[in-house]
Amino acid sequence: MPAISCSAPGKVILCGEHAVVYGAPAIALPVFQVSTVTKIFAHPQDPTGTVQIIAPSISLNSPVDSLPELNPLKVAVDLVMKEFHIDHIPACEIRIQSTLPLAAGMGSSASVTISLVRAVSTFLGHPLDNEVVNRIGFEVEKLHHGSPSGIDNSVITYTMPVFFQQGKPIEYLKIASPFTLIIADSGKKGSTAEAVAGVRQWRQMNQPHFNAWLEEIRKITLQIKESLEIGNLEAVGLNLTLNHELLKASGVSNSELDALVTTALKSGAAGAKLSGGGLGGNIIALVNKEQAPAVVQSLLACGAVKTIITDIPASSGNQAKK
Ligand code: MEV
Repeated sequence: MPAISCSAPGKVILCGEHAVVYGAPAIALPVFQVSTVTKIFAHPQDPTGTVQIIAPSISLNSPVDSLPELNPLKVAVDLVMKEFHIDHIPACEIRIQSTLPLAAGMGSSASVTISLVRAVSTFLGHPLDNEVVNRIGFEVEKLHHGSPSGIDNSVITYTMPVFFQQGKPIEYLKIASPFTLIIADSGKKGSTAEAVAGVRQWRQMNQPHFNAWLEEIRKITLQIKESLEIGNLEAVGLNLTLNHELLKASGVSNSELDALVTTALKSGAAGAKLSGGGLGGNIIALVNKEQAPAVVQSLLACGAVKTIITDIPASSGNQAKK
């Protein structure tokens, strides 16, 4: 029997990360240069009925049943079975291969979950629709990050640029002019859970300052949305850099990320900021397509360990479909 194969991309947050956890809107984009692929090979002759799960990037090779109850991969499989009202799946080998960097702000946990959920449901004969995949993705993100907003699982499920706000229907973003982003990895790992906990603590200690910060980021995200809708990339760039300054104030940047942002701006980027949880991971820089190679060279010279150039196409935007 041929293997089932389902993939999911990575993501970057364009603006509004952290604030999105407290109800502000944020914008996220899928990144197709990195992905997770889950393949499932049926083992119909296996008398033991074992469902073996193999994920080399986290050195995992184990029967699903032997994983701890709250292991995110096990929970993802369990939640798919729950959708099907079954308590076991036929013997098989589930292989998860990901090119996403771990703890780098590119949505590795959500990408793994979404590809796994799609593959298991396809293996069971009925691929789940996006709404259910996204719901399961969100449940599993809670195990990884404690109090996620849901933006990572949403952009990775719907694979479109999204304007996301907790509790509201997901909006596809209207983008009038295509643009180019450089994603540069600082090489330092950054735990999203730790970064989110740090911001929460800052909020508890300094509520008025936090409220003003939240309001500023909300405005910036709305301005970026409007600027994308009319193709004013200069304004997008300026607001991205302002967003970085605000993230810095909340304590989620570090010297490597700040240095990469400064370098990107000095070498001609229209705007730059850290992206995702922070404390490490990636920065993004908005550039002219022609400038991209020169900015990449400067970022590598400044210590970036890897860069991706990604072109975001124009899109018409509307409400996400099931
Ligand atoms: C992580 O990609 C984005 C954060 O805002 C956390 C979240 O929204 O769940 C830092």
